[in-house]
Amino acid sequence: MNDKVQIGCIGFGMQGAPNLYALLNIPGCRVVACADVDASHLTAAIKAINGHYQSQDCKGYKDFRDLIARGDLDAVCISTPDHWHAIPAITAANAGLDIFCEKPLSHTLGEGIAMVDAVQRNGRIWQTGSWQRSQGLFRWAAQIVQNGYLGKVTRVEVGLPGGHSDFGGTGNALPDGAPPAGVDYDFWIGPSKMLPFNPCRFHRNWRWNYNTGGGQLMDWIGHHCDIAHWGLANPEFGCRPDDEIGPLEVSATAKFPNQGDVWNTATEFRIECKYPNDVDVVIADDDHGIASGAKWIGPNGWLVVSRGGIQASNPDFIREIQAKEKKGELKIQLYKSPGHMQEFIDSVKSRKRTLTPVEVAHRSQTPGHLGYIAAVTGRKLKWDAARQQIIGDAEASKMMLPGMRAPWHI
Ligand SMILES: NC(=O)c1ccc[n+]([C@@H]2O[C@H](COP(=O)([O-])OP(=O)(O)OC[C@H]3O[C@@H](n4cnc5c(N)ncnc54)[C@H](O)[C@@H]3O)[C@@H](O)[C@H]2O)c1
Repeated sequence: MNDKVQIGCIGFGMQGAPNLYALLNIPGCRVVACADVDASHLTAAIKAINGHYQSQDCKGYKDFRDLIARGDLDAVCISTPDHWHAIPAITAANAGLDIFCEKPLSHTLGEGIAMVDAVQRNGRIWQTGSWQRSQGLFRWAAQIVQNGYLGKVTRVEVGLPGGHSDFGGTGNALPDGAPPAGVDYDFWIGPSKMLPFNPCRFHRNWRWNYNTGGGQLMDWIGHHCDIAHWGLANPEFGCRPDDEIGPLEVSATAKFPNQGDVWNTATEFRIECKYPNDVDVVIADDDHGIASGAKWIGPNGWLVVSRGGIQASNPDFIREIQAKEKKGELKIQLYKSPGHMQEFIDSVKSRKRTLTPVEVAHRSQTPGHLGYIAAVTGRKLKWDAARQQIIGDAEASKMMLPGMRAPWHI
């Protein structure tokens, strides 16, 4: 490796842009290549990179496989839509590259299992875009729970947005049409089912159609369920570490639009999970009695954290944890991130595990994938978290890894 980590960025849309700017501002790395299947996004990325370094060195690619095959990269940063995480990530891992990849880890549960396997087999460093773990607010919350202020947690509530958010500004009622000039739409659809081009399920709004995304549930599970698991990850309370944690049973209800609608992802959902050691975990849209964020409840009180702040049944919990952290007196002190992207670059150099490695991200999203399958089948699922298998339900098991459109495969 050079003294600077050499990086290629794949996908330059709503989240690819802040990821790229974060990398450009880290002195220990250099972005030397980028890839996007939309020529206008690719041109914008190259302009931003070359403008920042005041050079003409950055090379752009339509095909991420050509970027990975350059041979001079140490790492990639993947900010493509959810249906385009698994294949670039596994290709990069097999090529010996380290990976920053956006949440949710994968579009299907089976893809997540394959991604964990590829990263572990190749000994790669992985950071997920679940950046809340790099924020003091969420660290304090997880520390309060892990240090036992609530006692043994019996119930966790994870509140995520419901409905759909029009990030693309298209609404959901435009007719099918021709893709914009410069877009390789066949490549953009990639491993998903070929559907006619519709602007309402393209850039940014692809997340509201199950062909390419997973709706609000999967858009947010890698944030608040990830934090909920982080708090639970204290073996002293009989819980598994957050790279092994998982439900034993999952049942769910959801309100789905017509499956032929352009936006067809669930607008309301409620997933009830039984975790080991008698912990009930409920994941639901936050319009129906579950507060946004992660809430832990134990015999000694409760604590809820979201991007809006942190609240506890006893505000002393928060004051005390902050004071003890300052003095270095906490029994369980979680790692204080220097910044989410910085931590990734530091780990690429040091080979130290990141705050959100692939195994952790996979476990954080698993109840969401299982909840979706439980809601569609209408059945309670039994989950073997060690073997990562649905027990005794062939139809539900098949839904873990629906086929990919040829020639794409993992
Ligand atoms: N961490 C966060 O807070 C956060 C916030 C928003 C989005 N995200 C995640 O970031 C990812 C991207 O979401 P977005 O909202 O930026 O989407 P987007 O539609 O705005 O951008 C995606 C980009 O990827 C490109 N692309 C698609 N397929 C490609 C391929 N095969 N190769 C190269 N480029 C390809 C598109 O052309 C587009 O430029 C998603 O997984 C999303 O969940 C994370």
